[in-house]
Amino acid sequence: MNLGVNVDHVATVRQARLAKYPSPVTAAIACEKGGAWGITAHLREDRRHINDADIRELVKVVKRLNMEMAATDEMIAIACEVKPHSCCLVPEKRQELTTEGGLDVIARQTYIASAIERLHAEGIIVSLFIDPVEEQIQAASDVGSDYIELHTGTYSNAVGEAQQQELVRLREGAAFATSLGLKVNAGHGIDYVNIEGILTIPGLHELNIGHSIVGRAIEVGMEQATREMCALMRKYKG
Ligand code: PXP
Repeated sequence: MNLGVNVDHVATVRQARLAKYPSPVTAAIACEKGGAWGITAHLREDRRHINDADIRELVKVVKRLNMEMAATDEMIAIACEVKPHSCCLVPEKRQELTTEGGLDVIARQTYIASAIERLHAEGIIVSLFIDPVEEQIQAASDVGSDYIELHTGTYSNAVGEAQQQELVRLREGAAFATSLGLKVNAGHGIDYVNIEGILTIPGLHELNIGHSIVGRAIEVGMEQATREMCALMRKYKG
């Protein structure tokens, strides 16, 4: 199973001050050195973290860019021009803190089928971010998606018995998708503790993980960052 690291929140820190750093591109290179198979970045409609220039730079620098995006004409046009390795279509609401729930493929079947056709014509692999619901998985297969990414956010937010029940839904969803010939990824809210349950889901190709890895990087990197600033300050002559 491969790891795709989502670098959105490196850009979140940059945008908090409208600064030039930290760079999601530099972070992506470090992720690849650390063993990431792919890099994911979500170009949101409001450009709240990753922006167009980041996407253009990432696609040049990383081995496999998975561009996460809403299923809109604007985003499909950008993807067709930039040509990332893959696109993951997600639902998007302006006010949300992060992606809430999976894409309703059934409700937008005709549009999503034509979006997939346009992306495939440019050689881009397509994944649909959906909840582990049989009808949605069937619809993802019907519209010609290559992959689904199972939404693990509900699992990640749940505790105890409810979490175990959600894990059962994820396992059954993965098995059903595989039986239809879909390849299966998973992501959202996976951290260093709850990954244990995720590892029991059969047939997974890739996990997309962002927030917990960026958070961990800050925690383990603070000592080095402080040491470097202290070293610069030692040049002070008074
Ligand atoms: N997969 C999808 C489709 C997402 O929308 C996100 C969040 O941007 C992730 C994975 C990564 O989630 P997290 O940052 O919680 O690890």
